[in-house]
Amino acid sequence: MSDEIYTASGSPNIALIKYWGRRDDLLNLPNNSSISMTLGDGLTTTTSVMFSDRIKEDAVYINGKRQDYKAANDEKSGFMLKAIEYMREAAKTNARLLAVSKNSFPSDAGLASSASGAATMVYALNEALGLKMQQKELSIVARQISGSACRSIFGGIVKWNKGSRSDGSDSFAEQVVPADYWPDLVDIIAIVSESKKKVSSSEGHKVTVRTSALYRARPPFAEAGVAKVIEAVHEKDFNSLAELIMRDSNDMHATMLDSWPPIIYLNDASKGIIGAIHEINQSHGENMAAYTFDAGPNGHIITLRKYEAEVTERLSKAVGIKSIITSGIGSGPRKSEDCLITKELLAENERQ
Ligand code: PMV
Repeated sequence: MSDEIYTASGSPNIALIKYWGRRDDLLNLPNNSSISMTLGDGLTTTTSVMFSDRIKEDAVYINGKRQDYKAANDEKSGFMLKAIEYMREAAKTNARLLAVSKNSFPSDAGLASSASGAATMVYALNEALGLKMQQKELSIVARQISGSACRSIFGGIVKWNKGSRSDGSDSFAEQVVPADYWPDLVDIIAIVSESKKKVSSSEGHKVTVRTSALYRARPPFAEAGVAKVIEAVHEKDFNSLAELIMRDSNDMHATMLDSWPPIIYLNDASKGIIGAIHEINQSHGENMAAYTFDAGPNGHIITLRKYEAEVTERLSKAVGIKSIITSGIGSGPRKSEDCLITKELLAENERQ
């Protein structure tokens, strides 16, 4: 095994039609297809990986902290271990992994850091091991770490097919259009809280499916939404796209509130954002912007470049907004020159 370091950078994605609720919790198989926009500048995960016989044991550092996936004993950690093992077996090597990953944005605040982290890691492992797995296969591996991560394997607008097979082999992501098809799309992220969410999305999926009566109507609604979003994207019909995005976010959060005990990710500032966007759209005469919220209170405002300044200005007047990060549509994971494995870290992890 060569001791070369491979560094990749990737980005989170923001779902335009959401994934919420699974038919299989172990394989992360969703009840409905979903569609997202991969983000880019302003929101990146950089991951350097190296496989070497010189390394004592697998070591993964995320945002400066060494991860103990075995001790963590939670679903995402288990899947991360499984993914590393799967890739290593595919490459027929026993070499240990040293990986360092860093986000340019706050983790665990509903900004999909786990999606970005998992997708960038899987992409980097494939490159470092010279596996030449296709993106479809990488998306299946990433899906098992964190469902929504499968969509970050591609750039542009991406669909995650729900699939129907019980082994998950047809539940993968695919690109609908590349980033340069509609480069005017932007996501203005209004940060209203950087604190860790109380209910993890992993737990939330289960509680909603188990306890919400409203949820029964969600999979067909979302599935139809995906088809309509694809049409709006192909036609670059922003007015229709925006309404579909807002209605889907509201529908998902309604099923969360209908769960027992209720799951409430939105706070007063989030509701302020919803009000502000409806006001902006109403005064404009058609939709200039769409809000959407994941499993957290921070608002993602999807708009077009030409409206970015006006929407940002009007939004920043909404109460409770702490900061704003803007990202254009991104082109997906790629090689990076920004190596994060230092000589010191390597020495620390080498056999004596
Ligand atoms: O990938 P997970 O298990 O963290 O679920 C994420 C679900 C949402 O972000 C709320 C919606 C989505 O499709 O990304």
